[in-house]
Amino acid sequence: MNFAKITQAAHYTPQQVVTNDDLAKIMDTNDEWIASRTGIKSRHITYDENTSDLSAKVVESLLEKSGKSAEEIDFLIIATISPDSLMPTTATITQAKTGLINAFAFDMQAACSGFVYALAMGEKLISSGRYQNGIIIGAETHSKTLNWADRTTAVLFGDGAGGVLLESSQTQHFLAEKLQSDGVKASSLTSRKYYPNSPYSKIYEAESNLVMDGRLVFDFAVREVPKNILATLKIANLEADDIDYYLPHQANLRIIDKWPRKIKAQPAKFLVNLQHYGNTSAASIPILLSENIDKQILKFGSNQKVLMTGFGGGLTWGSILVKL
Ligand code: ACO
Repeated sequence: MNFAKITQAAHYTPQQVVTNDDLAKIMDTNDEWIASRTGIKSRHITYDENTSDLSAKVVESLLEKSGKSAEEIDFLIIATISPDSLMPTTATITQAKTGLINAFAFDMQAACSGFVYALAMGEKLISSGRYQNGIIIGAETHSKTLNWADRTTAVLFGDGAGGVLLESSQTQHFLAEKLQSDGVKASSLTSRKYYPNSPYSKIYEAESNLVMDGRLVFDFAVREVPKNILATLKIANLEADDIDYYLPHQANLRIIDKWPRKIKAQPAKFLVNLQHYGNTSAASIPILLSENIDKQILKFGSNQKVLMTGFGGGLTWGSILVKL
């Protein structure tokens, strides 16, 4: 049997930190509103980097930490909803920047569930026995997709990237997963709509900024995500307290705070860092994982059971349960 294992994690966030007070200077908002509604105190915003620049930093860090050469990497998957361009993909641009000459590279898009979806796909590639080393990244430069005149969304998001190295293993480390989506509610969270606009088509006005029905997404996340976590635990035949740590998508502290009671887990097991980064969509879970590896709260080889859960546009949501 072939299995996959996460063997390294890394993250990178742009240097520039923008606090809630900084935002209050350019729009009608304040620290009290943002912090009490979301838990967010500051976010990193890129000055001149694109999503591939952030991703390249993560690839370089993963190679350095693992001692692997760029040539050894078989594939690179980047989950993002803020790519450098639709074509070429952020993944191939990152590949060129980091010399992953033997890899195939592509982007994957499942909004804030993107990292969990991409990790699930990467695990299947390694488990097939055809590939030995893969890199999975979640990366966003949301600052370029936001409408900075819309205080209801601009204050929520941040830029950043995180990722993991996946290697083949003799032992099982991916214990369960459950990925879900619901396109019927797609209009509650949209960005960059594309329309026919040729001389032969009806001409539409393009919509490019992120637009969100915050209340609907909030209710959906509070209601559906705990059910998904419980379904994932059931697949692995585990109880909520068997999990050492939960790594939830970092969108809103008020959402995350409701989950432990719903699944009957200790609140302290839910790791949080959104106060420093805001919502970094596909990047939030790998940044959280990497940060907690750096802090030695999470340790590779420890057999800690970690459940990662994403939710967001699509709508999409899903969990993946791994043993470190
Ligand atoms: N500063 C000050 N006031 C504000 C701001 C702001 N930044 N934004 C909105 N307000 C005002 C509103 O205008 C409204 O005023 P009104 O009552 O006079 O009309 C008031 O504050 C309340 O607004 P609500 O939208 O009702 O606030 P709510 O408590 O619902 O919080 C929030 C809004 C934080 C967006 C919440 O709904 C939420 O977090 N939703 C989930 C979002 C999410 O998790 N998205 C994740 C997916 S992201 C992805 O996939 C890309």
